[in-house]
Amino acid sequence: MATSLHPNLTVVKSRAFDTLFTKIRDVETNSGDFVHYSKRAMRLLAEEAAAHLPTSPQAVTTPTNAIYNGHLSILDTNPDGVCAVSIVRAGDSLLECVREIAPSVRVGKMWIQRNESSADKEAVHSCTKLPKGVKDMHVLLLDPMLATGGSACAALSTLIKEYDVAEENIVFANVISCPEGLEFVAQHYPRIKIVTCWIDDCLNEDKYIMPGLGDYGDRFFNTV
Ligand code: URA
Repeated sequence: MATSLHPNLTVVKSRAFDTLFTKIRDVETNSGDFVHYSKRAMRLLAEEAAAHLPTSPQAVTTPTNAIYNGHLSILDTNPDGVCAVSIVRAGDSLLECVREIAPSVRVGKMWIQRNESSADKEAVHSCTKLPKGVKDMHVLLLDPMLATGGSACAALSTLIKEYDVAEENIVFANVISCPEGLEFVAQHYPRIKIVTCWIDDCLNEDKYIMPGLGDYGDRFFNTV
């Protein structure tokens, strides 16, 4: 199913997600526990997304004097060549995890919110702050929930059309996606890579992901 929703989609495989997601989906989970368990899941996501950035071959010698022919991520060899872009506010949670694995990664922010009073919950983009030279960087776009795809496409449009970032150089990382959002992004941006932990069933009439976990930003930042 996954590959038909977007041509460059990776669903991260980990048994840990079932147990971690049981905690973060539970309406009874308090904000402290939500932060704790979602950060554990996002750390796995951040590592997987980082591995979808360019890598270069690297042979190392192990303590047993054997050669291991491995690879290094550009996040480790040239963090200046990567910009982690958070779709504020929920994306800031995932940004914390990316900065734990790559403290000197460049950071960009896009303030994009759903207009909760409109029927289709359209994305309203109010502000962008990106580092100079972003067009030559690889971009890790961060938003925990891919619902309608409106915010993601607003961010992608700005990155690609206004800042000249190459579509192929963008990895979009999210915790939970749904078929509607993946297909919407596929229609407009088929060449980005998407790394998601989970594909849920659908959107409800309020454009929330089902079964989902409610509003990620509100739960992570304790503004429920
Ligand atoms: N944003 C969220 O935080 N949750 C959803 O279900 C959809 C969008």
